[in-house]
Parts: sequence; C-alpha cells; structure tokens
Amino acid sequence: MRTKLIAGNWKMHKTVSEAVALIDALYAALPTIASDREVVVCPTFTALSAVAARPRGAIGIGAQNVYPESHGAYTGEISPAMLVDIGCRYVIIGHSERRALFSESDAFIAKKAAAVLAAGMTPIVCVGETKQERESGRAEAVVLGQVAGSLAGLQDRLADVVIAYEPVWAIGTGLTATAADAQTMHAAIRAELRRIGGAAAERVRIQYGGSVKADNVDELMAQPDIDGALVGGAALVAEGFARIANYR
Ligand code: PGA
Repeated sequence: MRTKLIAGNWKMHKTVSEAVALIDALYAALPTIASDREVVVCPTFTALSAVAARPRGAIGIGAQNVYPESHGAYTGEISPAMLVDIGCRYVIIGHSERRALFSESDAFIAKKAAAVLAAGMTPIVCVGETKQERESGRAEAVVLGQVAGSLAGLQDRLADVVIAYEPVWAIGTGLTATAADAQTMHAAIRAELRRIGGAAAERVRIQYGGSVKADNVDELMAQPDIDGALVGGAALVAEGFARIANYR
C-alpha cells in the first residue's frame, strides 16, 4: 500500500509574511491528516525557514529546486545540506517550468535527484509532455524517456523517489487530463519503473499534477496508479488546498 502524497507547489508566490499567513491558515483548515496520506508544502527559498519554523502539525516542508553540490563557488545556488538544515524533507526537481525556462536536462535532473537522496530527502521528479507532443502521438515516449533519463543511475534508490506526472498542457490552464488518461500514463510509467528497478516500482509514488482542484481530485485519487497530487494554483488558498488534501 503506497501512502498518497499531496504536495503544494507555491511557485514564485508569497513574501515571507504572506507565506507564514498561508501556512497558519492551512494548519487551521487542516487540523488533522488521515493516516493514508502525507501533505507537504513547497514555498519559495526565502520563505522556507519561516514556514518550517511555524508550530507544525503533520505538514511536511519541501523546496522547489536545489543545486547538486554540497557547497562551493556556485553563486546564487542552494545545496541539499542547506535545505536539510532548515527542516526540508522533499525537493521538487525538474518541474516543466525549469526544464523549459532554465533548460534543465534529464542528466542534470538525475544529478539533483541523487544529491537529494544522498542528503536523506525525497526528490519529487517531474515529467510530462507538451501539447504538441501529445497531439503528435509521442506523449508516452517522451514521458518514459524523461523517467529513464531523470532516474539514470538511481535504480537502487527507486523506492525513495516520487514521480510527478504533469502534462505541460494541463499546468495552470484549467485543463486536466481525464482520470482515465492520467491512469493510462501512470500505468505506463510504473511499467517503465519495473523495467528500471524491478519490484521496487510497486513502492514508487506517482503523483498527478496539472490543474488539480477540489472538483477533480476525488476521481483522480481513485485511480490505482495515482498516488497523490502536485498542486500549483489551488495550493495558494488554504481552504481549497485543505479540501484537496481531504480527497475522498
Ligand atoms: P497547477 O500547477 O496546479 O497550477 O496546474 C501544477 C504544477 O505546476 O505543479
């Protein structure tokens, strides 16, 4: 049985005081969390410490990015150890916005995932096809290629990785893959994970992301290979995110 993981990606939103207000509102809206799921929020770097320092219920803290070296002359970057130091347990890696806007490659993402695992945190490795790739019938090939490339060298640590399948055309657009289409891709991803790491594939949590909202989360979470959600826009409102975390 995989513990579902509901994660909020706050992206480049919220000043420190706004982020603290949001986490406090979230604790109020979500006083208890069912034992079959974990809930995580991923604020910006500047707000991470302040959010992690709030009196905690069971909400975990994650970062949105990391640099895969322990320290050194990497101006502007943040190491895994620095994230562990302030209480982070998860790191989103290879989000499609980073792949597209900052040219992150599968190989670089695999290095980040290895560094996050070595630091004792859980990488949330994002994959997903563009609209054009889906329309030309290449969605599955693209996604499975990203899975293999982004996990290169990590076959022995597979069970500790989270995958987030986020079709690029569904992110921030209000369009969601149907639950059936998402399940089909998740099953294909799990088959690829089996090829890479054998039985450990059954333990890998595969989240769906892309316009997850209160009114579609229940159907998505009912699919056998959907093990949680990575939520962007709807994670910025405490009551809405609490409803998603309380999916049925
Ligand atoms: P969205 O973003 O929920 O706003 O579509 C999801 C994501 O980018 O992780």
